[in-house]
Amino acid sequence: MPTDSLLAWRPEFPILAHTNYMISHSLGAMPRRTADSLQAFADTWATRGIRAWEEGWWEMPITVGDLIASIIGAGQGEVAMHQNVSICQWIVTSCFDWRGPRNKLLTDGLNFPSNDYIHHGLARQGARIVSVPSEDGMTLPTEQIVDAIDEETQLVSVSHVAFRSSYVQDLAAIVQRAHAMGALVVADLYQSAGCLPVDVRALNLDFATGGSVKWLCGGPGAGFLYVRRDLWPKLQPAATGWQAHHEPFAFAGGPIEFADDAMRFLNGTPGIPSLYAARGGYEIINEIGVPAIRAKSLRQTARLMALADEAGFPVRTCRDDQFRGGVVILDVPDGKQVTQELARRQVLVDYRPRAGIRLAPHFYTTDDELEHAMHELRAIHATVHA
Ligand SMILES: Cc1ncc(COP(=O)(O)O)c(C=O)c1O
Repeated sequence: MPTDSLLAWRPEFPILAHTNYMISHSLGAMPRRTADSLQAFADTWATRGIRAWEEGWWEMPITVGDLIASIIGAGQGEVAMHQNVSICQWIVTSCFDWRGPRNKLLTDGLNFPSNDYIHHGLARQGARIVSVPSEDGMTLPTEQIVDAIDEETQLVSVSHVAFRSSYVQDLAAIVQRAHAMGALVVADLYQSAGCLPVDVRALNLDFATGGSVKWLCGGPGAGFLYVRRDLWPKLQPAATGWQAHHEPFAFAGGPIEFADDAMRFLNGTPGIPSLYAARGGYEIINEIGVPAIRAKSLRQTARLMALADEAGFPVRTCRDDQFRGGVVILDVPDGKQVTQELARRQVLVDYRPRAGIRLAPHFYTTDDELEHAMHELRAIHATVHA
Protein backbone atom coordinates (compact mmCIF):
# COMPACT_ATOMS: atom_id res chain seq x y z
CA MET A 1 0.00 0.00 0.00
CA PRO A 2 1.60 3.36 -0.97
CA THR A 3 1.90 5.82 1.90
CA ASP A 4 -0.73 8.52 2.02
CA SER A 5 1.16 11.81 1.66
CA LEU A 6 -1.93 13.84 2.59
CA LEU A 7 -1.67 12.58 6.17
CA ALA A 8 1.31 14.93 6.60
CA TRP A 9 -1.35 17.65 7.03
CA ARG A 10 -2.75 16.13 10.23
CA PRO A 11 -0.66 18.16 12.71
CA GLU A 12 -2.11 21.30 11.09
CA PHE A 13 -5.57 20.35 12.46
CA PRO A 14 -5.56 20.27 16.29
CA ILE A 15 -8.91 18.48 16.70
CA LEU A 16 -7.58 15.35 14.96
CA ALA A 17 -5.31 14.62 17.94
CA HIS A 18 -8.27 13.45 20.03
CA THR A 19 -11.32 13.14 17.76
CA ASN A 20 -12.32 10.90 14.86
CA TYR A 21 -13.48 13.78 12.68
CA MET A 22 -15.89 12.31 10.11
CA ILE A 23 -17.96 15.47 9.67
CA SER A 24 -16.17 17.74 7.18
CA HIS A 25 -19.36 17.91 5.07
CA SER A 26 -20.83 19.91 7.95
CA LEU A 27 -17.94 21.78 9.60
CA GLY A 28 -14.41 21.21 8.30
CA ALA A 29 -11.68 20.99 10.95
CA MET A 30 -9.96 24.26 11.91
CA PRO A 31 -6.41 24.69 10.59
CA ARG A 32 -3.84 25.77 13.17
CA ARG A 33 -2.94 28.78 11.01
CA THR A 34 -6.49 30.17 11.39
CA ALA A 35 -5.63 31.24 14.93
CA ASP A 36 -2.64 33.21 13.57
CA SER A 37 -4.83 34.78 10.92
CA LEU A 38 -7.41 35.91 13.47
CA GLN A 39 -4.59 37.30 15.57
CA ALA A 40 -3.39 39.20 12.48
CA PHE A 41 -6.87 40.72 12.15
CA ALA A 42 -6.78 41.88 15.78
CA ASP A 43 -3.22 43.23 15.43
CA THR A 44 -4.12 45.13 12.25
CA TRP A 45 -7.16 46.69 13.84
CA ALA A 46 -5.19 47.52 17.01
CA THR A 47 -2.18 49.06 15.27
CA ARG A 48 -3.43 50.39 11.95
CA GLY A 49 -6.95 51.44 13.01
CA ILE A 50 -8.99 53.09 10.27
CA ARG A 51 -6.04 52.93 7.85
CA ALA A 52 -6.67 49.17 7.58
CA TRP A 53 -9.52 49.83 5.15
CA GLU A 54 -7.25 51.37 2.53
CA GLU A 55 -4.46 48.93 3.36
CA GLY A 56 -6.45 45.88 2.24
CA TRP A 57 -9.67 45.45 4.19
CA TRP A 58 -11.90 47.19 1.63
CA GLU A 59 -10.85 44.89 -1.22
CA MET A 60 -10.77 41.73 0.93
CA PRO A 61 -14.07 40.33 -0.41
CA ILE A 62 -12.33 40.09 -3.79
CA THR A 63 -8.73 39.31 -2.75
CA VAL A 64 -9.93 36.45 -0.52
CA GLY A 65 -12.28 35.44 -3.36
CA ASP A 66 -9.15 34.95 -5.48
CA LEU A 67 -8.23 32.00 -3.26
CA ILE A 68 -11.62 30.45 -4.07
CA ALA A 69 -11.26 31.32 -7.76
CA SER A 70 -8.28 28.99 -8.12
CA ILE A 71 -10.23 26.17 -6.45
CA ILE A 72 -13.33 26.44 -8.68
CA GLY A 73 -11.72 27.37 -12.01
CA ALA A 74 -12.71 31.06 -11.98
CA GLY A 75 -10.42 33.89 -13.03
CA GLN A 76 -8.78 36.26 -10.56
CA GLY A 77 -11.13 39.07 -9.55
CA GLU A 78 -14.21 37.01 -10.47
CA VAL A 79 -15.30 35.78 -7.02
CA ALA A 80 -16.89 38.03 -4.40
CA MET A 81 -17.09 36.97 -0.77
CA HIS A 82 -20.26 37.33 1.27
CA GLN A 83 -21.54 36.03 4.58
CA ASN A 84 -23.23 32.87 3.31
CA VAL A 85 -24.93 31.11 0.40
CA SER A 86 -28.38 32.41 1.26
CA ILE A 87 -27.19 35.98 0.71
CA CYS A 88 -25.43 34.99 -2.53
CA GLN A 89 -28.57 33.31 -3.89
CA TRP A 90 -30.62 36.33 -2.90
CA ILE A 91 -28.24 38.59 -4.84
CA VAL A 92 -28.36 36.35 -7.94
CA THR A 93 -32.14 36.11 -8.03
CA SER A 94 -32.43 39.87 -7.49
CA CYS A 95 -30.71 40.45 -10.86
CA PHE A 96 -33.86 39.44 -12.75
CA ASP A 97 -37.20 40.96 -13.58
CA TRP A 98 -39.79 38.26 -12.87
CA ARG A 99 -42.82 40.11 -14.28
CA GLY A 100 -42.48 39.23 -17.97
CA PRO A 101 -43.38 36.06 -19.90
CA ARG A 102 -39.95 34.54 -19.12
CA ASN A 103 -40.69 34.19 -15.43
CA LYS A 104 -39.99 30.56 -14.66
CA LEU A 105 -37.43 29.68 -12.02
CA LEU A 106 -36.64 25.99 -12.29
CA THR A 107 -35.13 24.39 -9.22
CA ASP A 108 -33.98 20.87 -8.47
CA GLY A 109 -35.80 18.91 -5.81
CA LEU A 110 -32.51 18.21 -3.99
CA ASN A 111 -31.61 21.87 -3.59
CA PHE A 112 -30.73 23.19 -0.13
CA PRO A 113 -33.88 24.39 1.73
CA SER A 114 -32.52 27.93 2.14
CA ASN A 115 -32.32 28.28 -1.65
CA ASP A 116 -35.90 27.01 -1.94
CA TYR A 117 -37.12 29.57 0.57
CA ILE A 118 -35.50 32.37 -1.44
CA HIS A 119 -36.94 31.07 -4.72
CA HIS A 120 -40.47 30.79 -3.36
CA GLY A 121 -40.21 34.31 -1.93
CA LEU A 122 -39.87 35.53 -5.54
CA ALA A 123 -43.41 34.39 -6.33
CA ARG A 124 -44.69 37.72 -5.00
CA GLN A 125 -42.57 39.44 -7.68
CA GLY A 126 -44.18 37.33 -10.42
CA ALA A 127 -41.78 34.37 -10.55
CA ARG A 128 -43.25 30.95 -11.29
CA ILE A 129 -41.33 28.41 -9.25
CA VAL A 130 -41.15 24.92 -10.73
CA SER A 131 -39.36 22.27 -8.69
CA VAL A 132 -38.29 19.01 -10.33
CA PRO A 133 -38.88 16.40 -7.62
CA SER A 134 -36.49 13.61 -6.71
CA GLU A 135 -38.57 10.46 -6.73
CA ASP A 136 -36.42 8.57 -4.24
CA GLY A 137 -35.26 11.60 -2.24
CA MET A 138 -31.65 10.81 -3.16
CA THR A 139 -31.10 11.02 -6.90
CA LEU A 140 -32.40 13.23 -9.70
CA PRO A 141 -31.67 12.11 -13.26
CA THR A 142 -30.29 15.04 -15.25
CA GLU A 143 -32.76 14.46 -18.13
CA GLN A 144 -35.64 15.33 -15.80
CA ILE A 145 -34.14 18.77 -15.15
CA VAL A 146 -33.05 19.25 -18.76
CA ASP A 147 -36.54 18.37 -20.08
CA ALA A 148 -38.14 20.95 -17.80
CA ILE A 149 -36.05 23.86 -19.18
CA ASP A 150 -38.10 25.75 -21.78
CA GLU A 151 -38.38 29.18 -23.40
CA GLU A 152 -40.21 30.55 -20.34
CA THR A 153 -37.29 29.63 -18.07
CA GLN A 154 -35.24 32.57 -16.84
CA LEU A 155 -33.07 30.85 -14.22
CA VAL A 156 -32.22 27.24 -13.39
CA SER A 157 -31.04 26.68 -9.82
CA VAL A 158 -29.26 23.42 -9.05
CA SER A 159 -27.13 21.89 -6.35
CA HIS A 160 -23.93 20.39 -7.74
CA VAL A 161 -23.77 17.82 -4.94
CA ALA A 162 -26.96 17.25 -2.97
CA PHE A 163 -26.56 17.94 0.76
CA ARG A 164 -28.91 15.12 1.76
CA SER A 165 -27.59 12.27 -0.40
CA SER A 166 -24.25 13.49 -1.84
CA TYR A 167 -25.66 12.85 -5.33
CA VAL A 168 -23.57 14.56 -8.04
CA GLN A 169 -25.52 16.44 -10.70
CA ASP A 170 -24.32 16.81 -14.32
CA LEU A 171 -23.93 20.58 -14.51
CA ALA A 172 -22.53 20.59 -18.06
CA ALA A 173 -25.71 19.10 -19.57
CA ILE A 174 -27.91 21.50 -17.62
CA VAL A 175 -25.90 24.59 -18.64
CA GLN A 176 -25.90 23.50 -22.28
CA ARG A 177 -29.67 23.09 -22.41
CA ALA A 178 -30.33 26.26 -20.40
CA HIS A 179 -28.20 28.38 -22.72
CA ALA A 180 -29.84 26.84 -25.79
CA MET A 181 -33.19 27.95 -24.33
CA GLY A 182 -31.95 31.44 -23.39
CA ALA A 183 -31.89 30.73 -19.63
CA LEU A 184 -29.09 31.16 -17.08
CA VAL A 185 -27.90 28.71 -14.42
CA VAL A 186 -26.90 29.18 -10.79
CA ALA A 187 -25.16 26.18 -9.21
CA ASP A 188 -24.70 25.76 -5.48
CA LEU A 189 -21.20 24.33 -5.06
CA TYR A 190 -21.28 24.12 -1.27
CA GLN A 191 -20.94 20.35 -1.15
CA SER A 192 -18.46 20.13 -4.04
CA ALA A 193 -15.92 22.99 -3.79
CA GLY A 194 -12.82 21.62 -2.08
CA CYS A 195 -13.95 18.01 -2.41
CA LEU A 196 -14.65 17.43 -6.13
CA PRO A 197 -12.97 19.17 -9.06
CA VAL A 198 -15.16 22.01 -10.39
CA ASP A 199 -14.32 24.31 -13.29
CA VAL A 200 -16.88 27.07 -13.59
CA ARG A 201 -15.29 28.47 -16.75
CA ALA A 202 -15.10 25.10 -18.54
CA LEU A 203 -18.73 24.49 -17.56
CA ASN A 204 -19.65 27.96 -18.81
CA LEU A 205 -21.65 28.41 -15.63
CA ASP A 206 -23.37 31.75 -15.19
CA PHE A 207 -23.40 31.90 -11.40
CA ALA A 208 -21.96 29.77 -8.63
CA THR A 209 -22.39 30.03 -4.88
CA GLY A 210 -20.78 28.20 -1.99
CA GLY A 211 -19.41 28.58 1.48
CA SER A 212 -16.45 27.87 3.70
CA VAL A 213 -17.92 25.92 6.54
CA LYS A 214 -17.45 22.47 5.06
CA TRP A 215 -14.76 20.99 2.79
CA LEU A 216 -12.86 24.28 2.53
CA CYS A 217 -12.12 24.34 6.29
CA GLY A 218 -12.72 28.10 6.36
CA GLY A 219 -15.20 28.32 9.24
CA PRO A 220 -18.49 30.23 9.45
CA GLY A 221 -19.21 33.66 7.95
CA ALA A 222 -17.64 33.41 4.49
CA GLY A 223 -19.74 32.46 1.44
CA PHE A 224 -18.71 33.02 -2.16
CA LEU A 225 -20.38 34.24 -5.34
CA TYR A 226 -19.01 33.73 -8.84
CA VAL A 227 -20.62 35.52 -11.80
CA ARG A 228 -19.58 34.95 -15.43
CA ARG A 229 -17.55 37.98 -16.41
CA ASP A 230 -19.35 38.84 -19.67
CA LEU A 231 -22.65 39.04 -17.76
CA TRP A 232 -21.42 41.73 -15.36
CA PRO A 233 -22.44 44.80 -17.43
CA LYS A 234 -25.93 43.35 -17.94
CA LEU A 235 -26.65 42.56 -14.29
CA GLN A 236 -27.90 45.08 -11.75
CA PRO A 237 -28.73 43.28 -8.52
CA ALA A 238 -31.55 44.84 -6.51
CA ALA A 239 -29.94 43.29 -3.42
CA THR A 240 -27.08 45.76 -3.26
CA GLY A 241 -25.35 48.38 -1.13
CA TRP A 242 -22.75 51.10 -1.12
CA GLN A 243 -19.75 48.81 -1.60
CA ALA A 244 -21.16 47.96 -5.05
CA HIS A 245 -21.07 51.61 -6.15
CA HIS A 246 -18.33 52.64 -8.57
CA GLU A 247 -17.48 55.57 -6.31
CA PRO A 248 -18.61 54.50 -2.84
CA PHE A 249 -16.80 57.30 -1.05
CA ALA A 250 -18.68 59.94 -3.05
CA PHE A 251 -21.65 58.90 -0.91
CA ALA A 252 -24.05 59.84 -3.71
CA GLY A 253 -27.73 59.22 -3.06
CA GLY A 254 -30.32 58.15 -5.62
CA PRO A 255 -30.10 55.05 -7.79
CA ILE A 256 -26.80 53.22 -7.65
CA GLU A 257 -24.16 53.44 -10.37
CA PHE A 258 -22.54 50.05 -10.25
CA ALA A 259 -18.81 49.34 -10.17
CA ASP A 260 -17.52 47.77 -13.38
CA ASP A 261 -15.82 44.86 -11.64
CA ALA A 262 -17.04 42.10 -9.31
CA MET A 263 -17.40 44.69 -6.52
CA ARG A 264 -20.78 45.38 -8.18
CA PHE A 265 -22.10 42.21 -6.52
CA LEU A 266 -21.21 43.33 -2.99
CA ASN A 267 -23.46 45.25 -0.61
CA GLY A 268 -22.60 46.74 2.80
CA THR A 269 -19.55 46.61 5.09
CA PRO A 270 -17.88 43.21 4.65
CA GLY A 271 -17.39 40.72 7.51
CA ILE A 272 -13.62 41.18 7.74
CA PRO A 273 -12.86 38.79 10.66
CA SER A 274 -14.60 35.91 8.83
CA LEU A 275 -12.47 36.59 5.76
CA TYR A 276 -9.30 36.43 7.85
CA ALA A 277 -10.56 33.17 9.41
CA ALA A 278 -11.40 31.61 6.05
CA ARG A 279 -8.07 32.19 4.29
CA GLY A 280 -6.10 29.39 5.96
CA GLY A 281 -8.41 26.60 4.80
CA TYR A 282 -8.47 27.93 1.23
CA GLU A 283 -4.67 28.13 1.13
CA ILE A 284 -4.38 24.52 2.25
CA ILE A 285 -6.92 23.25 -0.31
CA ASN A 286 -4.99 25.16 -3.01
CA GLU A 287 -1.69 23.69 -1.82
CA ILE A 288 -3.01 20.13 -1.89
CA GLY A 289 -5.09 20.48 -5.07
CA VAL A 290 -8.63 19.15 -5.38
CA PRO A 291 -7.80 16.17 -7.69
CA ALA A 292 -5.71 14.56 -4.90
CA ILE A 293 -8.50 15.19 -2.40
CA ARG A 294 -11.07 13.64 -4.73
CA ALA A 295 -8.95 10.55 -5.42
CA LYS A 296 -8.56 9.90 -1.70
CA SER A 297 -12.23 10.63 -1.00
CA LEU A 298 -13.40 8.13 -3.62
CA ARG A 299 -11.12 5.46 -2.17
CA GLN A 300 -12.18 6.09 1.44
CA THR A 301 -15.91 6.45 0.76
CA ALA A 302 -15.75 3.14 -1.16
CA ARG A 303 -14.08 1.54 1.89
CA LEU A 304 -16.78 2.94 4.19
CA MET A 305 -19.49 1.48 1.96
CA ALA A 306 -17.74 -1.92 1.98
CA LEU A 307 -17.59 -1.81 5.80
CA ALA A 308 -21.29 -0.86 5.91
CA ASP A 309 -22.11 -3.81 3.65
CA GLU A 310 -20.24 -6.13 6.01
CA ALA A 311 -22.20 -4.70 8.93
CA GLY A 312 -25.51 -4.98 7.07
CA PHE A 313 -26.29 -1.24 7.14
CA PRO A 314 -28.15 -0.09 3.99
CA VAL A 315 -26.11 2.49 2.04
CA ARG A 316 -28.12 5.50 0.84
CA THR A 317 -25.35 6.98 -1.34
CA CYS A 318 -24.69 6.29 -5.03
CA ARG A 319 -22.09 3.56 -5.40
CA ASP A 320 -21.08 4.78 -8.84
CA ASP A 321 -18.07 7.14 -8.39
CA GLN A 322 -19.45 9.49 -11.02
CA PHE A 323 -22.54 10.21 -8.93
CA ARG A 324 -21.03 10.10 -5.43
CA GLY A 325 -19.78 13.19 -3.59
CA GLY A 326 -17.69 13.06 -0.41
CA VAL A 327 -20.30 11.70 2.00
CA VAL A 328 -21.54 8.19 2.77
CA ILE A 329 -25.05 7.99 4.16
CA LEU A 330 -26.12 4.95 6.13
CA ASP A 331 -29.65 3.99 7.03
CA VAL A 332 -29.03 2.92 10.63
CA PRO A 333 -32.06 2.41 12.93
CA ASP A 334 -32.32 5.09 15.65
CA GLY A 335 -29.80 7.16 13.70
CA LYS A 336 -30.15 10.25 15.89
CA GLN A 337 -29.48 8.36 19.13
CA VAL A 338 -26.61 6.43 17.57
CA THR A 339 -25.06 9.70 16.36
CA GLN A 340 -25.24 11.14 19.89
CA GLU A 341 -23.53 8.06 21.34
CA LEU A 342 -20.83 8.22 18.66
CA ALA A 343 -20.15 11.84 19.69
CA ARG A 344 -19.77 10.71 23.30
CA ARG A 345 -17.11 8.31 22.01
CA GLN A 346 -15.29 11.13 20.14
CA VAL A 347 -16.52 10.02 16.70
CA LEU A 348 -18.20 13.00 15.05
CA VAL A 349 -20.80 12.35 12.32
CA ASP A 350 -24.29 13.76 11.81
CA TYR A 351 -27.81 12.60 11.17
CA ARG A 352 -30.38 14.02 8.76
CA PRO A 353 -34.06 13.01 8.72
CA ARG A 354 -35.11 11.16 5.54
CA ALA A 355 -31.42 10.39 4.86
CA GLY A 356 -29.56 8.74 7.72
CA ILE A 357 -26.15 8.96 9.37
CA ARG A 358 -23.71 10.97 7.24
CA LEU A 359 -20.00 10.17 7.44
CA ALA A 360 -17.36 12.11 5.55
CA PRO A 361 -13.65 11.43 5.47
CA HIS A 362 -11.49 14.32 4.23
CA PHE A 363 -7.85 14.58 3.13
CA TYR A 364 -6.71 14.36 6.76
CA THR A 365 -8.58 11.12 7.58
CA THR A 366 -6.62 7.92 8.21
CA ASP A 367 -7.79 4.52 7.03
CA ASP A 368 -7.74 3.38 10.66
CA GLU A 369 -10.29 6.08 11.48
CA LEU A 370 -12.71 4.58 8.94
CA GLU A 371 -12.41 1.16 10.59
CA HIS A 372 -12.72 2.72 14.05
CA ALA A 373 -15.86 4.72 13.17
CA MET A 374 -17.57 1.66 11.71
CA HIS A 375 -16.46 -0.50 14.63
CA GLU A 376 -18.04 1.94 17.10
CA LEU A 377 -21.16 2.24 14.96
CA ARG A 378 -21.60 -1.52 14.95
CA ALA A 379 -21.00 -1.76 18.68
CA ILE A 380 -23.58 0.95 19.49
CA HIS A 381 -26.10 -0.57 17.11
CA ALA A 382 -25.62 -3.98 18.75
CA THR A 383 -26.18 -2.45 22.22
CA VAL A 384 -29.27 -0.46 21.20
CA HIS A 385 -30.77 -3.53 19.52
CA ALA A 386 -29.58 -6.17 22.03
C1 LIG B 1 -25.69 22.63 -0.57
C2 LIG B 1 -25.77 23.63 0.55
N1 LIG B 1 -26.11 24.90 0.29
C3 LIG B 1 -26.19 25.83 1.26
C4 LIG B 1 -25.91 25.50 2.58
C5 LIG B 1 -25.95 26.53 3.67
O1 LIG B 1 -26.29 27.79 3.25
P1 LIG B 1 -25.83 29.10 4.06
O2 LIG B 1 -24.42 29.38 3.67
O3 LIG B 1 -26.77 30.14 3.63
O4 LIG B 1 -25.96 28.78 5.52
C6 LIG B 1 -25.56 24.19 2.89
C7 LIG B 1 -25.29 23.84 4.31
O5 LIG B 1 -25.54 22.83 4.82
C8 LIG B 1 -25.48 23.23 1.86
O6 LIG B 1 -25.14 21.97 2.11
